[in-house]
Amino acid sequence: MKKFLVIGNPIEHSLSPQLHNFWIKNNNLNATYTKKKLNDDDLEKLIHEMRENKFNGINVTVPFKKKIIPYLDELSNEAKETESVNTIYIKNNKIKGHNTDVSGFEHSIKDLNINMCNKKVLIIGAGGVVSSIIFALNNMGLRKIFVTNRTREKAEDLKKFFRNLIIVEWGDVPDFDMIINATSVGLNENDQLELNLSKIKNKFFYDVIYNPPKTNFLKNAEVLGNKIENGKKMFIYQAAAAFKIWHNIQPEINNEVLKVLDI
Ligand code: ATR
Repeated sequence: MKKFLVIGNPIEHSLSPQLHNFWIKNNNLNATYTKKKLNDDDLEKLIHEMRENKFNGINVTVPFKKKIIPYLDELSNEAKETESVNTIYIKNNKIKGHNTDVSGFEHSIKDLNINMCNKKVLIIGAGGVVSSIIFALNNMGLRKIFVTNRTREKAEDLKKFFRNLIIVEWGDVPDFDMIINATSVGLNENDQLELNLSKIKNKFFYDVIYNPPKTNFLKNAEVLGNKIENGKKMFIYQAAAAFKIWHNIQPEINNEVLKVLDI
């Protein structure tokens, strides 16, 4: 039996096992997918165990997407450029790290049939997921990418990797076509971002958060007549891309899958 797992800390909230086990069952595969809470000093041992074939694949979530990199043999271009790994697999006896968050985000946007070419995007936040979003946006031919973060320094750090970014002072809101909440604000139902977006209409609001499904960021935007989308599709597409790498099967994404997640 092949073994897969997702590592993180915390990990209780992760819905990856539900999704992967659903696809494993649907495709009659002899495999299991579990979750494991780890600490920083467990990472080396884990990768060592993978070398001994105790695991066939690993998904990595917060806070290990960058910390896992020194233990891997090779990185995909996406993983290298974003300094972020969420999917690990073995190929030719090498432990490889890839980042499917990039294609996950890109796919979720493509599904909406919005032409992003020449558009202006404002990203709120500068945490772990932001480099993947910027990499994907750069692939889509955006005109301008603004980033604003409560701690400006972290946004400036991103600019070292992505020179085309425009850093905006926290509290300022430049003209944009699409705005992305990539902060953790919204994970609790009552959370409110301290940004004044109350006059913005007919734009596209995207929240990386998918649980709760409608954050206040999205609720307020919807009331004002903006288009909204949460991070559920991004989550599903990044998982599907990992599944394809491990099993060489493109899993089906349909209403049943959306129901499995129950969010
Ligand atoms: P990490 O930085 O470890 O990757 P993350 O959860 O991916 O963590 O990122 C959290 C993001 O949410 C950061 O951009 C954080 O801003 P800071 O860099 O200033 O901490 C942002 N964030 C969290 N709480 C916030 C709040 N109350 N208001 C605004 N931004 C917040």
